Amino acid sequence: MKNKTSPIPHPFVKWAGGKRQLISKIERYLPKKYNTYIEPFVGGGALFFHLKPLEATLIDNNKELINCYKVIKNDLAGLIEMLKLHKNEKDYYYRIREIDRNQEEFKKWSDVERASRTIYMNRCCYNGLYRVNSKGFFNVPFGRYKNPLFCDEKNLNAVQKVLKNANIIWGDFEECLHFATKGDLIYFDPPYHPLSDTANFTGYTKDNFGKGSQERLFDVFDELNRRGCFIILSNSYNEFILELYESYRIIVINAKRAINSDPTKRGEIKEVLVLNY
Ligand SMILES: C[S@@+](CC[C@H](N)C(=O)[O-])C[C@H]1O[C@@H](n2cnc3c(N)ncnc32)[C@H](O)[C@@H]1O
Repeated sequence: MKNKTSPIPHPFVKWAGGKRQLISKIERYLPKKYNTYIEPFVGGGALFFHLKPLEATLIDNNKELINCYKVIKNDLAGLIEMLKLHKNEKDYYYRIREIDRNQEEFKKWSDVERASRTIYMNRCCYNGLYRVNSKGFFNVPFGRYKNPLFCDEKNLNAVQKVLKNANIIWGDFEECLHFATKGDLIYFDPPYHPLSDTANFTGYTKDNFGKGSQERLFDVFDELNRRGCFIILSNSYNEFILELYESYRIIVINAKRAINSDPTKRGEIKEVLVLNY
């Protein structure tokens, strides 16, 4: 896995649906001035790390991911020490992966140990994916990378600096309603509405993000609009999403599709950006 030439700070995990390749397309639509930056589906936080806002609220319902953000913010030295103990070896990887199958044991792990496990596995697993099965257990196979950078101290230090004033929350996207006020910028990057029943990757957590969740998200979007926030939302280009947001400004962009088990289906696809301004 590459990283040496990446700008810092950049996402400390490779994340399905990560927005690094779309940053320039999104950036041109951002307001020049805003108060707090709020990202309710932060994932790897590509846009957040690019913008480096002075004040931010970051939310995600993936417990292990949010634990990593908190540990990087609060105990980076401890994390780096633990990361250095990991090994890029197949048997070792599977031993570490199996730990969440024994919840009693896993619960005894400290936050730092859990964060180091998540970051290590993200760098050493196949395709750098975070994916869990229906029981919530991490199930990505070993990646066989020659020299994966799972302890990128330089980037982690830069990430910690940006997180200094960030409010980091493990929870549902609706949590943003407790924080957002007039003039804040909200970037919603939810799991995309699937183009077909089987097409989309939705394994970030064991819960699915179906039509009901997209509609619930629309209600939150509407409420934040009433409050006078700047809102920008990414999603797939399809009838359901176009109809849901028909009263707002919709911009169609082209994106490279990265996550598909079938390499022949990794071409360019249309996506939308929905704006309320
Ligand atoms: C498309 S990814 C975000 C990618 C991110 N923009 C990036 O650059 O890496 C969607 C994220 O939403 C999170 N998620 C799924 N359902 C959620 C919910 N109900 N509330 C909050 N976060 C949720 C997933 O854990 C995942 O990290």
